Amino acid sequence: MSPLAPMPGRGLEPGPLEKAPDPEPQELAALEGVWGALAPQERRGRRDLLLPALRALQASRGWISYSALAAVCRELTMPLAEAYGVASFYELLATEPRPRRMIHLCDDVACTLKGAGMLAGRLQALLGHPEQGEGPLGWSLSPCLGQCERGPAALVGDRVWVGLTPEGLEDAVGAWMAGEEARAHAGGVGTHLGSLGEGTPLLLRRCGRVDPGSLEAYVEHGGYRGLRRALQLGPEATLAEVEASGLVGRGGAAFPTARKWASAAREPAPRYVVCNADESEPGSFKDRVLMEQDPFAVLEGLTLAALAVGAERGFIYVRGEYPESHRSLLRAAEQARAAGFLGERILESGFSFDVELRQGAGAYVCGEETALFNSIEGLRGEPRARPPYPAQVGLFGRPTVINNVETLAAVPAILERGGGWYASLGSGRSRGTKLLSVSGHVVRAGVYEVAFGTPLRTILEDLAGGVPGGGAVQAVLCGGAAGTFLGPDQLDTPLSLEALQAVGGTVGSGSLVVLDETVDLWAVVERIARFFRDESCGQCVPCRVGTQRQLEVVSAVRRAGGPVDDQALAMLNDLAQVMRDASICGLGQLAPNAVQSSLRLLGRSGGDERG
Ligand SMILES: Cc1cc2nc3c(=O)[nH]c(=O)nc-3n(C[C@H](O)[C@H](O)[C@H](O)COP(=O)(O)O)c2cc1C
Ligand code: SF4
Ligand code: FES
Repeated sequence: MSPLAPMPGRGLEPGPLEKAPDPEPQELAALEGVWGALAPQERRGRRDLLLPALRALQASRGWISYSALAAVCRELTMPLAEAYGVASFYELLATEPRPRRMIHLCDDVACTLKGAGMLAGRLQALLGHPEQGEGPLGWSLSPCLGQCERGPAALVGDRVWVGLTPEGLEDAVGAWMAGEEARAHAGGVGTHLGSLGEGTPLLLRRCGRVDPGSLEAYVEHGGYRGLRRALQLGPEATLAEVEASGLVGRGGAAFPTARKWASAAREPAPRYVVCNADESEPGSFKDRVLMEQDPFAVLEGLTLAALAVGAERGFIYVRGEYPESHRSLLRAAEQARAAGFLGERILESGFSFDVELRQGAGAYVCGEETALFNSIEGLRGEPRARPPYPAQVGLFGRPTVINNVETLAAVPAILERGGGWYASLGSGRSRGTKLLSVSGHVVRAGVYEVAFGTPLRTILEDLAGGVPGGGAVQAVLCGGAAGTFLGPDQLDTPLSLEALQAVGGTVGSGSLVVLDETVDLWAVVERIARFFRDESCGQCVPCRVGTQRQLEVVSAVRRAGGPVDDQALAMLNDLAQVMRDASICGLGQLAPNAVQSSLRLLGRSGGDERG
């Protein structure tokens, strides 16, 4: 008898997967929706279906039960512990019973300036403590939902409530409780769009003017001219145009786009292209506006990237908090496919390419490119150590190009009008035009497109209308939570990579949150420190412990009423150095930025000048 054969008469003991009870019918129906036409044997080993399956279960019942998780594991042939590790990683997924629908109320910086605190109080009175309750509706606080220009905002299922007032919120909750879910919404608040300077509007040229749901309208207004030209030019000349444009990434790191593409193109096929639509940087919402108001431009840009690097498959990873962006891209992709702009032999050329959409589930760190790959692959969204870089070993271990939504949306115009034309806009490393998400204390919060070199003051005053009531700027948070605070003395800085770097700032994701003189700056700094503590994936010690200690010091100083004493300052500086030097990924490396840059402003206001 083989040593591995069961003892006579005993058989193999069933494992936890076999012993798990059957899922509820609604859970099974949700999973069937994910498996679609895939036969059982085709699901085996398809771990990339894990996150879609978890999202579907979450939507069906409001939480993911043990039996449903076990059913997923049986289908995908994966260990239960690993699936649990993924399910428990994401903020929008729950592995314990909770109300079927949650109101995720944003309490981040811009929404707090507009009264989110009062709304939280109202929800507590209506629904009890956050994260508790057995009824159909519960609530929790959330970091920025990417709706800052029209906040206060909340995510409720696959809807976003914006422009919330206490009365509007009460009405919406009342409608929900009465079973009239469809009536429970808040909204009607538009997004201001504007542009200034040479070459603009370029990225915004169709937004708000051309029907985003119509491929015909896109084509009528210049759409797919870039792709038609690129198909004539071929991959190498397409890449050369992007190189000539001087385009650098708009996702934060400003890496030259053509260099990244060329590097992946040199690697063996199959290669992938990925659009990073995770836009989770607090204060940033310009990618959302592009996806919702000009979705075909994003698809065309991704198709051009695929052509240049020789990829046949692409993914768009949309943050879970952006249901409308997801719907918009899905609709656009279906139309593009039906019209031959996606799929086999695009426009009857020899080039084939198609795209899949994936949705996140609430984790800021998944915007980091390697964490995003892990998330698509059905692993915990933890960043990978580098090297190897994505151009060599990326999604599914293959050479991959990943770009931000805005970066990709700029590419069609580059192919249409030529890289030299694009490079003629701007100077130095700052070429082309830039989108900015402007929110906080301004008259017209919105998305603005400017020529590089435009002074911040001009953007805030001429485009966004300045501080309401003629108030004064106390600080501008530039580049999101991972960015820096600039003081009123720095507002004449031109918006460019070089000029902002020279004053210790960064363009980052291109967001500007304006704080007037009434704001408790320490409260804002503490919120940012809490954000990093909450969003750290915990994988490496400098970030996991550093973000917690940073929060503790900031909170202690705030409780004491500031200013920062020598001991606290030394502690914050030490933590900053360790996090910057020893964190695996940008989250930990950038986590001290806002806190450090606030010290110049707060030191001064506390009468304790510190550089
Ligand atoms: C914590 C963290 C979050 C990030 N979030 C985003 C994001 O939401 N969107 C994005 O495009 N890039 C984000 N990035 C940058 C990406 O890692 C990557 O650099 C970018 O997608 C590359 O595209 P680009 O070259 O077009 O800028 C993030 C980086 C870090 C460290
Ligand atoms: S730096 Fe922070 S977020 Fe990045 S891998 Fe380390 S613990 Fe995770
Ligand atoms: S949506 Fe609330 S701060 Fe961005």
